Amino acid sequence: MDQAIGVIDSGVGGLTVAHELMRQLPKEKLLYVGDTLRCPYGPRSEEEVKKFTWEMVNFLLEKKIKMLVVACNTATAFTLTELQNHLDIPVLGVINPGARAAINATKNMHIGVIGTDGTIRSNAYPQALLNINSKIHIDALACPLFVPLVEKGMLHGYTTFQIVSESLEPIRQNNHIDTLILGCTHYPLIKDTIQQFMGNHVSIISSSEETARETSTILEYHELLYKGERIPNHQFFTTGELEIFEKIAKRIFNSSESNAQSVAIEH
Ligand code: SIN
Repeated sequence: MDQAIGVIDSGVGGLTVAHELMRQLPKEKLLYVGDTLRCPYGPRSEEEVKKFTWEMVNFLLEKKIKMLVVACNTATAFTLTELQNHLDIPVLGVINPGARAAINATKNMHIGVIGTDGTIRSNAYPQALLNINSKIHIDALACPLFVPLVEKGMLHGYTTFQIVSESLEPIRQNNHIDTLILGCTHYPLIKDTIQQFMGNHVSIISSSEETARETSTILEYHELLYKGERIPNHQFFTTGELEIFEKIAKRIFNSSESNAQSVAIEH
């Protein structure tokens, strides 16, 4: 069971999930692909998101992964069921774990969800939330400007606050929500700014912790957990510019090294 867990994302956002996997499962090796070249996936068609996602998956399958974590909400919304039906390894997305964490956190049953155009368009979060509890009230909002902001490394500062404020104003006007799901794995990187604008009475949910917990449960259930002792040698691949990818990876992992390399996956 010394094979790696594969993690895919449209860019750097899934590194927040990778970081949590490394924290909760320190002996597991990760192989990560971020399709930074074609990021964002949010405004793309379902067909395109599926094609790009399969290209990342096939790249990782050649390296023999034992489980796949789809650390991108847009890719989860459009491809999770298809991947689960076609692959003979366990596949986990980030939407159900995020929905479960939000239901745990809410006290007044009013939950906000923010995500890319694609994720909000897919209606995947409302479906996941209502499947768990049909009495939940949901307010969903697309925030298409956040992913480009994060991919440029603009995580703090005046412009970031302005963009966050203008984008979130419609959801803040709804005073009812006590819980806000960050329905895009890029958004935890600007979580402080989002929290500052929404106020401390709103619990901000990122699906990373819950996704890592569920990964651990799934590996254990399938008897796939690595049982020996090792410091795993994770590998990170980006289809885009290495420099900016490494800069963000080092910041997320709080490390001076990222072990990242450029790769072409397009077919
Ligand atoms: C995107 O590529 O548009 C964002 C990724 C996500 O939905 O988590």
